Amino acid sequence: MDINILNQTAQAMVAHNKGLIAMDESNPTCNKRFADLGILQTPEMRRRYREMIITTPGLNKGINAAILYDETVRQRLSDDTSFVKAVEDASIIPGIKVDMGAKDLAGFPNEKITEGLDNLRSRLTEYSKMGIRFAKWRAVITIGNGIPTPRCIVNNAMGLAQYAALCQEANMVPIVEPEVLMDGNHDLKTCFSVTERVLHEVFEQLYKQRVINEGIILKPNMILPGTNCPDQSNTEEIAEMTVKCLLRTVPASVPGIAFLSGGQTSSLATARLNAMNAQYKSEIPWALTFSFSRALQYPALEIWKGLDENSIAAQNALYHRVQLNANACQGKYLSEMEIEGHQRQY
Ligand code: 13P
Repeated sequence: MDINILNQTAQAMVAHNKGLIAMDESNPTCNKRFADLGILQTPEMRRRYREMIITTPGLNKGINAAILYDETVRQRLSDDTSFVKAVEDASIIPGIKVDMGAKDLAGFPNEKITEGLDNLRSRLTEYSKMGIRFAKWRAVITIGNGIPTPRCIVNNAMGLAQYAALCQEANMVPIVEPEVLMDGNHDLKTCFSVTERVLHEVFEQLYKQRVINEGIILKPNMILPGTNCPDQSNTEEIAEMTVKCLLRTVPASVPGIAFLSGGQTSSLATARLNAMNAQYKSEIPWALTFSFSRALQYPALEIWKGLDENSIAAQNALYHRVQLNANACQGKYLSEMEIEGHQRQY
């Protein structure tokens, strides 16, 4: 493990008010998104989709790093360039999702545990040889009647810590992603207290597993009311509670925090990130940025619909979302900018 390499990579992933694109949907998740839009669910269509995303002109103006999926790193662009090289050629740092998904936690109904530690060391070695410089592991915590249980939180935190230690051993930066889901009717305060407990446990386990904070990126949820909560809270409350929760739990030695979008609409995810940076930048020790999947890509996917003739319009939509989020990293996003982008062309 070389902490200088790890820290340099982590810093580069969140530098210059830019963020990450999570284009790492597993095949079942990607297929579900395709099915909703009537797109054929094949390896070739997933390849074309990822090619459309990564060849977006100027993507690196707002994106430092891209999270890829195992299938994608074994595929090639139409011109035969490997995806990893295409990402590097775009001046973007390539990374990869390495967890094997959240599965039922035995003995704990409605709770999940993330799998993927078996053979992880050899998988990381292979990815590292391909030129991949960071990894991602997502743990899922559900809020509901009597859940999350302490055991679910501890087991998931231990999994994240073991994964993170293996990544650092391979000089790959671990993105540590404990996601408290938005599903449910819980309120903002409940999301705050659950996320606070989860993040405390995650950093406790990272410490016990000898993970170095300077060489990780945290990918948390924002503090949000459940999707079915009658009080949906305003942007300022969400920004305030999210920053408060992170200040209580995340060490200042962590280089960056890159949020997941978690099912928020694209514009809300951007507005909330913007409010945090606009109001609290002077109080926070880490870069606060984005690592969205749906909130970045969905508008482009809806335009693309699997058709080559829609690619340029889809890329324009993606570029626009990336720019809006880069503005949000500086606290300079305005809702009027949502409209302007529709007229913008290359
Ligand atoms: P969303 O932004 O769609 O929540 O995805 C982020 C992610 O990478 C989930 O692991």
